[in-house]
Amino acid sequence: MPLKLTVIGTGYLGATHAAAMAELGFEVLGLDIDEGKVALLSQGRTPIYEPGLDDMLARHVVGLEGSSGRLRFTTSWQEVAEFGDVHFVCVNTPQKQGEYGCDMSHVDSAFALLAPHLRRPALVVGKSTVPVGSAARLAGKLRELAPAGDEVELAWNPEFLREGFAVQDTMHPDRIVVGVASERAESLLREVYSGPVAEGTPFLVADYPTSELVKTAANAFLATKISFINAMAEVCESAGGDVAMLAQAIGHDDRIGHKFLRAGIGFGGGCLPKDIRAFMARAGELGADQALTFLREVDSVNMRRRTHMVELAREALGGSFLGRRIAVLGATFKPDSDDVRDSPALNVAGQIHLQGGQVTVYDPKGMDNARRVFPTLGYARSALDAVRGADIVLHLTEWREFRELDPARLAEVAGQRHLLDGRNALDAEQWRKAGWTYRAMGRPNA
Ligand SMILES: NC(=O)c1ccc[n+]([C@@H]2O[C@H](COP(=O)([O-])OP(=O)(O)OC[C@H]3O[C@@H](n4cnc5c(N)ncnc54)[C@H](O)[C@@H]3O)[C@@H](O)[C@H]2O)c1
Repeated sequence: MPLKLTVIGTGYLGATHAAAMAELGFEVLGLDIDEGKVALLSQGRTPIYEPGLDDMLARHVVGLEGSSGRLRFTTSWQEVAEFGDVHFVCVNTPQKQGEYGCDMSHVDSAFALLAPHLRRPALVVGKSTVPVGSAARLAGKLRELAPAGDEVELAWNPEFLREGFAVQDTMHPDRIVVGVASERAESLLREVYSGPVAEGTPFLVADYPTSELVKTAANAFLATKISFINAMAEVCESAGGDVAMLAQAIGHDDRIGHKFLRAGIGFGGGCLPKDIRAFMARAGELGADQALTFLREVDSVNMRRRTHMVELAREALGGSFLGRRIAVLGATFKPDSDDVRDSPALNVAGQIHLQGGQVTVYDPKGMDNARRVFPTLGYARSALDAVRGADIVLHLTEWREFRELDPARLAEVAGQRHLLDGRNALDAEQWRKAGWTYRAMGRPNA
């Protein structure tokens, strides 16, 4: 009998994981406490924008024409407990209000709600990003609360998917890491991931703390790499250098590589910022805070980028935003996603608005989420409409659609032809040729 899987928490991670597991041939039952999400997913519609996810849901959600019927959604914990051999916990772990630590309340509540229903052998697998030490604590909770006692086990299996590539990353991960306390847990997870492993994906077996740390260490490294190049951009601006050329040149060293070396307004989203802060907070609790003090600098370099962008815009407008019209291209924290959590683009738009600028935002997929977070900003239906009459245009999320804009066409409708490229992603020459002043972070103002 193939394993039956459940996925608890069907947001960006969980909805994708549930659909991908159905695609791999398993019967899957997804659960969320958000009834609206469950209702949408049950109709094969996704509450988020993630390329390819709609199609994958349509191929598997029960009751849809031509679907495999292997994927269902519910709000019933009892149903989930009775159904599943393996339960993946994918709930959110945001930053605590007013402090750096991780808010574990959603994970704790998912375990507290699931465990009392576990009357048969099962493996509970945490996928959420959690502070090191959480798995050991939660394993104890399961033993205490699950009627099936020792027959219920815990594993930790951190997730590395990237929004915008989530389907691809889940179907073909570059590595699978499992933190386990028994051979049985390992062999169940080998069965779940036999498809990707057969394709050659490395399957790394670790203990609980190492598996938890792998995820936070990976995010800390990526954040550091981004802030490194952004720090170089600051130095370039002071020294008259060009950070784009610098990045290209150092990237040729294959120990460094070209990826994640594009200077700009920095990282955001629902993971990197809160994960590095939670990592610092946890290291502090463990007495290892000195080891991670550099992450404080990584964080402040990153946050400085947003303010610097606002300063560059204000400077370009002669020192004040009052009465000026600012077009903002991009609201999501990255392209190919509708996620605006801690988005640098929206943060910049919000700061300018608060300083008296009339901001009009356009984003290909993030408009609804952006409006919810910043209802007082102006929103346009297209890039062209956002730019119409604007005194300056800010390119803040590197959507392909923006790279494909015709600068000459935009020049016809803009109030003034000032462009600030906060992502170092547009073709400077093309924009200048069409009469725009082009300025990017860390590059000479030619
Ligand atoms: N989004 C990513 O790219 C990504 C990548 C890797 C890891 N992660 C990690 O995965 C976890 C989930 O992130 P996300 O972006 O999918 O978050 P999300 O907010 O999109 O989704 C979380 C879901 O869990 C549900 N939920 C909350 N409490 C619940 C409970 N007690 N029982 C059942 N459902 C509950 C919420 O309603 C929501 O639908 C986080 O720990 C995150 O750090 C996310």
